[in-house]
Amino acid sequence: MYASLYTYINLLTNSNMDVVCRIAVFLTLAFIIAVILMEPALGIRLNRVKESSSQTLPGEEHLVTSLPGQPAVDFKHYSGYVTVNEKNGRALFYWFYEATSHPDEKPLVLWLNGGDKRRVLHVSGPGCSSVGYGATQEIGPFIVDSNGHGVKYNPFSWNREANMLFLESPVGVGFSYSNTTSDYNILDDEFTANDSYTFLHKWFLKFPSYRKRAFYIAGESYAGKYVPELAELIHDRNNDPSLYINLKGILLGNPETSDGEDWRGMVDYAWSHAIISDETHRIIGRTCDFDSNDPWSNSTCADAVDELLRQYSEIDIYSLYTSVCTVDSASSDDKSKQYKLMRSSSRKMPRIMGGYDPCLDDYAKAFYNRPDVQKALHVSDGSHLKNWSICNTKIFQGWPDTKPSVIPIYKKLIAAGLRIWVYSGDTDGRVPVLSTRYSLSSLGLPITKSWRPWYHEKQVSGWFQEYEGLTFATFRGAGHAVPIFVPSNSLAFFAAFLLGESLPSAR
Ligand SMILES: *[C@@H]1O[C@H](CO)[C@@H](O)[C@H](O)[C@H]1NC(C)=O
Ligand SMILES: *[C@@H]1O[C@H](CO)[C@@H](O)[C@H](O)[C@H]1NC(C)=O
Ligand SMILES: *[C@@H]1O[C@H](CO)[C@@H](O)[C@H](O)[C@H]1NC(C)=O
Ligand SMILES: *[C@@H]1O[C@H](CO)[C@@H](O)[C@H](O)[C@H]1NC(C)=O
Repeated sequence: MYASLYTYINLLTNSNMDVVCRIAVFLTLAFIIAVILMEPALGIRLNRVKESSSQTLPGEEHLVTSLPGQPAVDFKHYSGYVTVNEKNGRALFYWFYEATSHPDEKPLVLWLNGGDKRRVLHVSGPGCSSVGYGATQEIGPFIVDSNGHGVKYNPFSWNREANMLFLESPVGVGFSYSNTTSDYNILDDEFTANDSYTFLHKWFLKFPSYRKRAFYIAGESYAGKYVPELAELIHDRNNDPSLYINLKGILLGNPETSDGEDWRGMVDYAWSHAIISDETHRIIGRTCDFDSNDPWSNSTCADAVDELLRQYSEIDIYSLYTSVCTVDSASSDDKSKQYKLMRSSSRKMPRIMGGYDPCLDDYAKAFYNRPDVQKALHVSDGSHLKNWSICNTKIFQGWPDTKPSVIPIYKKLIAAGLRIWVYSGDTDGRVPVLSTRYSLSSLGLPITKSWRPWYHEKQVSGWFQEYEGLTFATFRGAGHAVPIFVPSNSLAFFAAFLLGESLPSAR
């Protein structure tokens, strides 16, 4: 190369050349020198592109690079839409955080929030956002700041232990949508599981390095139904090797499990925690058949349950011993409307929306409706905005009757050898610890390690019991969304779950 440079310089100084030719030669020379000088830098850049393209290039377009107010972090995160149905134009929104360290070695965990948040009372099931709740109030690395202007770092984020994928499902929840409005009328559990399943396969095309990774599904509340249902679908389809997903287990927090047991537990819990009187408790016990299709056809039962809901509406049903958010817009007007709704749809088990800090809900709403946030998350171009709300009440109200119990699915998944852990914050009145214990005891599993405390930082964090095929644990003093109340304990618990290790039973 240096020899040819010498030739060029000779050419340039050769007085026989005309001016145009000299300029051309000079420019060529300048270019060659520039290339020589920049070669190291260019070389590195080319190598980098090569490395990352072999891993995650299809998903790279979803890399989030400029989330407003985001603290600096050294892991990558991605968000955007995955089309799950081309014909009808259905797209689900996800937000994915790589693990904070060694993402290549850590499992992949899908987090689902069913519905069921908010302290207002409501009929029917799901419709809330995993991004608004799970990711930005509970276990994600960025928690919405109380001023709604940005996010702050969560040092107890679950992406310290796993690669965390948050999915807004079904369509109509959060940013997820369908271009075919009639789709919104046919949503149910099975539709949701189908779309989530399609989502996973499409997502793996974008992030092929996760295709064979150890995979877990986690969630809370109404996801108590969604999670086992999706796990069952994956398990069934895994018979086809080309569709194989390396599902290892499921994790469920204060999960709706079995309607009859859930109601019995809720009533007994309210009584034993001094929310209702002995008389009300007795009337419910005598007149409510929670295993029937329509317990509310007995008006004495319906009135007594209304009384229970009325008492809970005065406090935060999701966290009995904390204050309510007094700036919440869910006024008492709203609540009486909810009662009427509940009573008018007597064919259904009333399902009640959940919630921990309704104030946080408002901060999340402000944040996700910002043009710059939507642009950064690849939701919109920043001018044609999407309308984001934390829960879609239409979906709540329209949700058809679903499986009354997922206990049969538990049995199937236990038989398949999947790891199943269930946890319960013991100050939640909505899906209280008693509901979960009633449901689990109906499984009749043999006990392998009897009831005992588990410890975190030298304190009793709760109690646990191990069964053949299932672990159950409580969180002492935590409400419905456990990680909000005890973030450090929950992260330790999550780590134990992923390792499949017993919780620490000594100080
Ligand atoms: C829905 O319709 C909009 C507007 O026509 C289009 O830009 C978008 O790609 C469609 N979504 C899907 C998932 O097909
Ligand atoms: C879910 O998918 C299965 C298999 O493709 C199909 O038979 C079923 O009808 C789907 N259910 C809904 C509600 O879309
Ligand atoms: C409700 O159920 C109880 C117990 O079965 C029964 O005695 C009572 O008559 C029922 N009340 C109504 C209004 O159906
Ligand atoms: C967003 O939703 C609110 C409340 O439902 C509604 O008033 C508003 O018009 C919607 N905005 C857009 C752009 O759809």
